[in-house]
Amino acid sequence: MAVGVYPGSFDPVTYGHFDIIQRSAAIMDRLIVAVLNNSSKSPLFSVEERVNMLIDVTKHLPNVEVQAFDGLLVDFVRKNHADVIVRGLRAVTDFEYELQLSQTNRVIAPGVDTIFLTTNLKYSYLSSSIVKEIAMYGGDISAFVHPSIAEKIRAKFAGES
Ligand code: PNS
Repeated sequence: MAVGVYPGSFDPVTYGHFDIIQRSAAIMDRLIVAVLNNSSKSPLFSVEERVNMLIDVTKHLPNVEVQAFDGLLVDFVRKNHADVIVRGLRAVTDFEYELQLSQTNRVIAPGVDTIFLTTNLKYSYLSSSIVKEIAMYGGDISAFVHPSIAEKIRAKFAGES
């Protein structure tokens, strides 16, 4: 049974993340989407909100579960008896950081490998930060996130949540 961990900040989940979730869930027997609870960053959404948004958009995928994590990713991977870390690669600009992350993880936890899926071309430019910036200025984000997520972002910037 192949178990994958797809880690990230997911602040918030975009169609780009969702594409990686769907495609990796089709390869793995079980996929755990691991949401970083990192107090040194100041996310727009709390970790509970990010987890709930991910649960909402993945509820039709029976082999996908969502968990929050803090501390080292490799510890989370081992604790969950997972086989691989899954990451998405958008463009060459992602490569250096991703290489550093995966090499470091393999040094501190030999045996924990990372596999990369190249992002769907449709979403190769997309990031959570860009979505938040557009939303902050009242722009249309419907091409980038699920409708339920767009509404939560709108409410957050309107101070309603
Ligand atoms: O979506 P992001 O923010 O690019 O995801 C980054 C993430 C969560 C994969 C990375 O920051 C991470 O693994 N953090 C956990 C702490 C850790 O294990 N650090 C050592 C890896 S070099």
